[in-house]
Amino acid sequence: MKVVVTGATGRTGGEVAREVAERDHDLVPVSREPAGTVAGADLQPPEDLPALLDGADALVDFTVPVASGEYVAEAADAGVPAVVGTTGFDDEGLATLHEAAESAPVLKASNFARGVHALLSVVREAATALPGYDVELTETHHNGKRDAPSGTANTLLDELDDARGEALDRTYGREGEDPREPGQVGVHVRRAGNVRGEHEVMFADNDEVLSLTHRAESRGVFAAGAVDAAEWLPGHEAGWYEFGDVIGDGGD
Ligand SMILES: NC(=O)c1ccc[n+]([C@@H]2O[C@H](COP(=O)([O-])OP(=O)(O)OC[C@H]3O[C@@H](n4cnc5c(N)ncnc54)[C@H](OP(=O)(O)O)[C@@H]3O)[C@@H](O)[C@H]2O)c1
Repeated sequence: MKVVVTGATGRTGGEVAREVAERDHDLVPVSREPAGTVAGADLQPPEDLPALLDGADALVDFTVPVASGEYVAEAADAGVPAVVGTTGFDDEGLATLHEAAESAPVLKASNFARGVHALLSVVREAATALPGYDVELTETHHNGKRDAPSGTANTLLDELDDARGEALDRTYGREGEDPREPGQVGVHVRRAGNVRGEHEVMFADNDEVLSLTHRAESRGVFAAGAVDAAEWLPGHEAGWYEFGDVIGDGGD
């Protein structure tokens, strides 16, 4: 497979590039960096993307929303499936991705860790089994993360809304005279050091606490999931896909 990786010098993009090379795929690392190599392949400039996409089987993107939208649109123009790990899109950015999905397969996931996928199901089950319990979500990431709360936190919050059948009032931190109101979900964001990503959903009431936590211990887990998705996506029709489609289809 020929796999184009954008943001190839980034923390996660670099891991993805190494994973692509380790699996013996043909790696094309794309970066705004003027020169260098990643996983033994020369960095290529984003301006050359249309030519680089020629004959590619997939593009994998871990960058920033503004760049991601452009890269994915170019992949769609070339008919190349795109795997998007970038988070923090606003409605306009998401619309750009959905537009691209009209002409090529686009798979977007806020988290490519299989454990987070399992966490989503367990959180749904707990939210349904414990109606009326207070819910608080805490996420921790390294000090270089741009968007807050994380894309994964937002996905967990959507899952809670779905399970409870109502839009919970997302309360971002508390300060001063600010008692908890019914129907709230507290959202707490920590940024420190080199933490890869930790999400905790806490349910509490009735003299008990249920705490569900996922912790990524290296970025390799995201890279492996993203490359699994890149191997799975080619051959599918144009449209919108999620990581659950890869796992549900027996991807390994
Ligand atoms: N879905 C998941 O499982 C998952 C896991 C981890 C991270 N993420 C998300 O992936 C994204 C990247 O995270 P990261 O920690 O790897 O960030 P990072 O280390 O800052 O890397 C981002 C890369 O994007 C490129 N970039 C940055 N600004 C750009 C711009 N204005 N135009 C074009 N390219 C630009 C750069 O690569 P070049 O200089 O090489 O072009 C940069 O190294 C974030 O949105 C993060 O939340 C998702």
